[in-house]
Amino acid sequence: MNYINNKLSFDNKLIDSIAKKYGTPLYCYSFEKIKENITNFKKNFKSFSPLICFAVKSNTNIKILKEIKKFNIGADVVSIGELMKALKAGIKPQKIVFSGVGKTTKEIEYAVTKNILLINTESKSEILEIEKIAKKKRKIINIGIRLNPNTDAKTLSQISTGKKENKFGVNQKIFLQLVSYLKDSKYLNLKCLSVHIGSQILNHKPYENMLKVIDKIISKSNHKFEYIDLGGGMGIDYEHNNSKLNLKKYSKNIQKFLKKNNSKIIFEPGRSIIGNSAVLITKILYIKEGYKKDFVILDAAMNDLMRPALYGAKHRIMPSKKTKKLTKKSYEFVGPICESTDTFSIVKKYQKLNEKDFLVICDVGAYGTSLASNYNVRPKPTEILIKGSKIQVINKRQKISELM
Ligand code: LLP
Repeated sequence: MNYINNKLSFDNKLIDSIAKKYGTPLYCYSFEKIKENITNFKKNFKSFSPLICFAVKSNTNIKILKEIKKFNIGADVVSIGELMKALKAGIKPQKIVFSGVGKTTKEIEYAVTKNILLINTESKSEILEIEKIAKKKRKIINIGIRLNPNTDAKTLSQISTGKKENKFGVNQKIFLQLVSYLKDSKYLNLKCLSVHIGSQILNHKPYENMLKVIDKIISKSNHKFEYIDLGGGMGIDYEHNNSKLNLKKYSKNIQKFLKKNNSKIIFEPGRSIIGNSAVLITKILYIKEGYKKDFVILDAAMNDLMRPALYGAKHRIMPSKKTKKLTKKSYEFVGPICESTDTFSIVKKYQKLNEKDFLVICDVGAYGTSLASNYNVRPKPTEILIKGSKIQVINKRQKISELM
């Protein structure tokens, strides 16, 4: 993203031209950025060559999945739909892990017929259900158990998953009971210990604490885990103030852990691969004066990008044309939906804007379109991918007629 003669461009394409050509609201992805993120991720963890399973929930666009797959990346899925999409994108079953607290019988059966790498279980009841299916199918199934390490990820409470009050994983006592139960199982092969303590983590300390907990429980369990699945959660710099997770430190801590525990590491990153690779281009419909601030009413809304409404998440907003004149009052950027939470942010001292101007909402590649809905019978937006000099439409705007 940069301004050339005060005009904003993304991956060398002028925002205004793209917006006019494809219409708004518009999701626009950069292949270069995805590539850079994957290369960077791999480089940081090169010393132990982990299996990287992209968290499909963060972005379910099949064209994006196909691009990511080309980098020899697997998938972390949480539903039969995600599993089918990953397979359709050409991701090999032996690179797919299935996570989630409530897999249905149908979902487990489907995963078993596809011979995926691992089903990461989250309760004794689920293990018994998988065992029943395995017996019926006379098949040995490879599973993991997700541990709830009771580690504070120091992130938003809504996206924290590894504390004792969270529904995810099993506690340490049950973990050990399940390990010993599985020692005698004829049909289930316990291959993996999995964890995922939360999302948008910017500090390496929670990961360090998590690794200590895992290390201890492995010693206690007296079981050799072929895989340790550390989940995802690596945060990105939404605020654009250089707050980054120190991947090098995380990597060093894992190397230390691996000296004692010789297992293959699996990661399930979503946001760190795709988050900063996309922007949402939107047009200003109206600007109206409120009591104390001015409302900038956009054609993008919470149905297109849910994160601010759902978590109070912050996304930087940039004008497509830069000017020097500043507003006297604050601007509140809002969508047209009939909800007071349909608001993106309040900014003081923004440059003066005009109706019909285009704006860009940054870092929407993860949990942008995948969380989008048709609320207020609003069609989901077009998505485009910039790859080199080419622009590809990777999802067409829904037609209102499809929603009738
Ligand atoms: N693995 C598991 C088991 C997960 O539950 C998640 C995310 C991931 C991996 C990927 O985490 P990531 O690397 O993307 O942080 N909608 C929220 C995020 C919810 C994350 C849910 N689980 C948001 O917009 O911030």
